[in-house]
Parts: sequence; C-alpha cells; structure tokens
Amino acid sequence: MVDLIDGRALARHLSDRTAEDVARLRAKGVAPALAVVLVGNDPASQVYVRRKVAECAKVGIRSCEAALPRETSEADLVALIEALNADPSIHGILVQLPLPPTIDATRVLDRIAPEKDVDGFHPVNVGRLSTGTGGLVPCTPLGIMKLLDSIVGDLRGRDVVVIGKSNIVGKPVAMLLLEREATVTVTHIETQNLPDIARRADIIVVAAGSPHLVRGFWVKEGAVVIDVGINRVTDPDGRARIVGDVATHEMGHARAVTPVPGGVGPMTIACLLSNTVAAAERTTR
Ligand code: GUN
Repeated sequence: MVDLIDGRALARHLSDRTAEDVARLRAKGVAPALAVVLVGNDPASQVYVRRKVAECAKVGIRSCEAALPRETSEADLVALIEALNADPSIHGILVQLPLPPTIDATRVLDRIAPEKDVDGFHPVNVGRLSTGTGGLVPCTPLGIMKLLDSIVGDLRGRDVVVIGKSNIVGKPVAMLLLEREATVTVTHIETQNLPDIARRADIIVVAAGSPHLVRGFWVKEGAVVIDVGINRVTDPDGRARIVGDVATHEMGHARAVTPVPGGVGPMTIACLLSNTVAAAERTTR
C-alpha cells in the first residue's frame, strides 16, 4: 500500500524547531524579521503572501509586508530593496514572483543582498549551491530534501529523475541531490521517451506544472514520488480544485507519494521560516 507522505506534519515539526531557534535568538536580543514584497494583485500571489506572513507570526518571526501597485516602476522597487538591504532590523527579503511584465525580475532579484536572500535566487547563492559551499538554499528544494530525509534517508547511488528544469525547483534540487551523491537525471519538455526514463527511477521529483503528467506506468514498483505541482483544474461539474503533477490514484504500487495539497507546499513555507532564522543567526556571528 502506498504511503501518502504527511508534509503538514513534517512542516509542523520543522516549524516547532524554528520557533525554538527564534526564542533563543530573541533572548540574545535579535528578533528575526522577514520583509515580504508583493507587486500587483495576482490572486494566487496574494494567497501565498498571506500564508507566509501568517506562518511567520506562528513561530515568532516579525514580518513586514510591502504591497505595491502593479504600476510600480522597477526603479522604485529596487529603491525599496536597497532600503531593506540597509535596514539591520530586517534579516530576510522575499520578492513574490511573478512580477508584472514591466519589471525585469532577474535585475530585481540581483539587487537583494545575498545574505538576506531567503529565496536563494541571487546568483551568489545559486553559485554557492552549485559548488556546495553554503549560502541560502531555495525553499522548495530544501523542503523536498527534508521530505526525502524522512522517507528515504541515504541517497547515495539512488537513481533520481527530476522532471522540470526551472530555476526555482528543478535545477536547485538537482544540485542538492548531487551533493548527496544521488545519480541525477534532469528532464524537461523536450526530453524524449520520458516515461521510459522515469520508470528507471528510485525517486521521481516532478515540478512540471502539468496536471497528472506522471502516470502509474511511468513509476516503478516501490519508487518514491515527490509531487511539486500546484495546478488549478475545473471538474466536469464546474468545480475548481488543486491537483498536482502526479496521477496519485494510479500510484498504488509506489512506496510513497506526496499529496497535493499537503505535501511539498507546507514544507516550502517551513523552509522559508528556517532560512529567515538562518539569515538572522548569521548576523550574530
Ligand atoms: N512564486 C512561486 N514560487 C515562489 C517562490 O518560491 N518564491 C517567490 N518569491 N515567489 C514564488
């Protein structure tokens, strides 16, 4: 029987530890603080930002939210980031993506001080990740590694197939898996014979943004499947719901699958909180 991995329980466990770290830092006079910047009124982004701010409060992290109109210029956004960089009471800065098309996201993210870049998107942190030399690690890949730690443990020599090559998930998770000496295959939209490649995997990590892409016959008996997809679909009766990139109902022969919702999502936020504390801790050294 396939094990549905409880990401919420694991995230709670991680956040309990983060809350202890926050209390320890506060006792030393450091109150960890996260600035969350949202530009425009994308409804999904508003939901994510609200959730991030609420989870900060639960563990005692101070958060300040800057909600800017969608007409905000790139120069004004960069000026805000520079001000947050210079503010010693702010330890983490997160700019919610996507940004409006009038703003160049890469140029903006490059202006976040690397030591405050709790998303791990700055080129310095990307470089540190790819050379295995520390830095802040993107939250979703970090959450995936913690899920794999709890299910699989030692990853040395495991065959892992990553589906999707995004900068937010596919590429960084491949780097983290390589650090752990897994054998990693990164696949993407142009990959030929994807089901055959996936079927070789001990572990599949899918972040493709394609509802129910990974079917039962793609997955070998006893494999572990990590579903990063968040897709809004409409049922024939007109009801909207969120599904992942995995046809979960066809995974009876897998060892474990992460559900959507309740798998990777909660771990992403828990890792944002632990990254904020890590950034705050660095200022005490
Ligand atoms: N939009 C979708 N995922 C993410 C993320 O991990 N970080 C930020 N800042 N925005 C996102």
